[in-house]
Amino acid sequence: MIIVLLGPPGAGKGTQCKRVIEKYDLAHLSSGDILRAERAAGTERGKKAQAFMDSGGLVPDDVIIDMMVAAIGKAGDGCVLDGFPRTVVQAEELDKALTDENRKIDAIVNLEIDDDVIANRLTGRRSCPDCGAIYHVTSLRPKVDDVCDKCGSGLVQRSDDKTDVVKNRLKTYHEQTVAVVGYYQQVGKIIFDIDADNDIEKISAAIFEKLDNLLAV
Ligand code: AP5
Repeated sequence: MIIVLLGPPGAGKGTQCKRVIEKYDLAHLSSGDILRAERAAGTERGKKAQAFMDSGGLVPDDVIIDMMVAAIGKAGDGCVLDGFPRTVVQAEELDKALTDENRKIDAIVNLEIDDDVIANRLTGRRSCPDCGAIYHVTSLRPKVDDVCDKCGSGLVQRSDDKTDVVKNRLKTYHEQTVAVVGYYQQVGKIIFDIDADNDIEKISAAIFEKLDNLLAV
């Protein structure tokens, strides 16, 4: 099963992906996490991505498409794509690459939420640099402040979660990524629109219901 999780920055894609992959035993392929790992490792791709990520813009399509198609190839039978595709060109190239391998996207989960809710989510987010767990300073606190419950590492704030960069990320989303939903409608993909301005548990339950029904068909 290949699922694409779409939604604006801070909609909860990473949070929900972690739950979906556990329940359905899928790989989690986050383009943002892969880029951050490449930056930390000092690779050429990481260096190319740096300025785009820090300003809240998109990394060029050719860089992302090669990286994600390779990651999907290594991921085995099923995966959830988090943060990819983010432009219509990326969506088209992903379809071509999957068709070449006799594979396809089974469904799109589209998290819907207003921009004003997102700003608070992103500025309060804290993440674990080692295991990737995601927390929030008020809505999802770790047991000990700034320490990961899962692996004990110190939590960090992402550099692109500052207010001015968040504004740019939202602008980029509206200008370039909203069109991806239109592309998937046009090519007849199954799209599940989910209200993401809700409790984390309720959002997961809504996604699981849709995916359970999909698997039962
Ligand atoms: P990426 O890492 O993908 O960032 P993003 O899409 O902006 O998404 P986020 O990770 O910020 O948010 P999320 O939706 O995962 O929310 P989360 O679950 O963490 O991309 C970073 C950059 O890389 C991009 O700006 C771009 O430069 C580049 N890039 C990546 N992919 C690319 C591509 N395909 N093409 C080109 N460039 C690309 O939740 C956020 C916070 O809210 C957390 O604190 C969480 O605890 C809290 N929260 C979650 N759900 C709830 C809830 N229901 N109620 C209350 N709080 C909640």
